[in-house]
Amino acid sequence: MAYLALYRAWRPRRFNEVVGQEQTVTALHNAVKEKKIAHAYLFAGPRGTGKTSLAKILAKAVNCEDLQEGEPCNSCSNCLDINQGNFMDVIEIDAASNRGIDEIRDLREKVRVLPAQGKYKVYIIDEVHMLTTEAFNALLKTIEEPPASVMFILATTEAQKIPATIRSRCQNYNFRRLTNEEIINRLNVITADNGINLDEEAALLIARRASGSLRDALSVLDQLTSYKGQVINKADVLDILGLVDNLFLARLLDAVIAGDTNNIIKLLGLAINEGKEARQIAEEMSLYLRDIMLYAYGGGVAELLVATNELLPFMDRQKEAMTKDDIINGLQIMLDTGERLRYREGQRFLLELGFLELAQAFTTSTKLPTVPVREEVGRESVQNFKQKSEKDEAKEILWQKILANVKEIKIPTHALLSQGNLLGAKDNVVYIGFKKGFKFHKERMEERANKEIVATVLEEIFNRQVEIEFIFIDDEYYNDIMVKKAIEFFGEEIVEIND
Ligand SMILES: Nc1ncnc2c1ncn2[C@@H]1O[C@H](COP(=O)(O)OP(=O)(O)O)[C@@H](O)[C@H]1O
Ligand SMILES: [Mg+2]
Ligand SMILES: [Zn+2]
Repeated sequence: MAYLALYRAWRPRRFNEVVGQEQTVTALHNAVKEKKIAHAYLFAGPRGTGKTSLAKILAKAVNCEDLQEGEPCNSCSNCLDINQGNFMDVIEIDAASNRGIDEIRDLREKVRVLPAQGKYKVYIIDEVHMLTTEAFNALLKTIEEPPASVMFILATTEAQKIPATIRSRCQNYNFRRLTNEEIINRLNVITADNGINLDEEAALLIARRASGSLRDALSVLDQLTSYKGQVINKADVLDILGLVDNLFLARLLDAVIAGDTNNIIKLLGLAINEGKEARQIAEEMSLYLRDIMLYAYGGGVAELLVATNELLPFMDRQKEAMTKDDIINGLQIMLDTGERLRYREGQRFLLELGFLELAQAFTTSTKLPTVPVREEVGRESVQNFKQKSEKDEAKEILWQKILANVKEIKIPTHALLSQGNLLGAKDNVVYIGFKKGFKFHKERMEERANKEIVATVLEEIFNRQVEIEFIFIDDEYYNDIMVKKAIEFFGEEIVEIND
């Protein structure tokens, strides 16, 4: 028999098998018992916390032929087919794929067709925040006037990207990250059942690294058993997760605090040449900063995640050198950097940029009131903090104002726009650049609704209507190709990129 990954084999099949998410589980279970099913649900929360699992349990519960106290029986043909993914009336759509968008397009007609096999047709739309405006509109129309036998379960990891029009038509449930304890308990149940001997420290380490995602924890357990067999200890976990050497993190943070650009670049280079992944380094640093936070402000040594006792002397010094805000900022910068690297492995310069930004954030925190701008900061740091020209500073202030005003109107639009950069203006056109890796952001910004928000803001600021162009800029920071290209394109006087 083909090997079934643990996270699949251990998908909860009844309400009472779901770990955590108590309020959501209770509410849905009661709705089934009382036959008060809504037509649309929105499940929002981090990945690996049970959204898809609960969607399937609900789909079974409304189609089960032998409901038991509101629990699906898991043995009637409908339940079995749904568990196998063979049930015609449970339709899973991945909104992140192109096919998903096509499927949404013909949804309006398809929902009119009565269920073929069961009582309810259930559409489970995953990663629903990825839909285009057009697809959202199609979905909205469908949700507005749903046929009685149709139910929608939308799932997303990014609730803030879901239009309010959609959200307000759904029953909303927020999924939370599972606690370390919940994850460890589940690991213990699963290892016991599979004859795996996982020691306590190893389980704790897996749980911490999973940051609340049971799915991630189970994937790690799977990797561990395939490489290390049935007996697993802490060293095995460290080996598989490839935790970056502690001392390295401590030294790197020293360099960051000292604002020592050369040393930062050098240390990162060493780690990458040793085969560490860029993303991993960023994630380890955020864990290390978290440790310092706990060490300094509560939690104490027992809760430390990556730091060991030998690092305490470093940490004593480092916690003195940083304010609480520094640490929180730093954590955020490192989390963002890790997230950006998630989709772009091996992008060493992005990692460097993240760390230079970190260094900049720490140095500026003491001499207010400079506004750190993400992209500018990195480039500047590479240039050894060259003095900014007045013109550049003015542009930076303008960009901050644009961003702030956009944020007031719509936070998701701000999130997209903030990945871009104000390049300059020519005639009546304002040019905003996105690095190549931010194709998604650029395309979203080009959608009418988002573009209009920026247009409104610009009109307010300039007191006249202006055109907006979003363009790609080269994402190479270490030479000036980008600047040259931009100058060729726009003419020297309007391109004011720091260099
Ligand atoms: N709350 C939970 N209770 C039990 N198992 C869970 C839970 N969350 C995740 N899992 C495990 O992780 C796997 C993936 O979970 P899933 O429901 O697909 O997460 P999501 O849709 O939120 O990303 C499940 O098959 C199960 O093994
Ligand atoms: Mg899912
Ligand atoms: Zn059943």
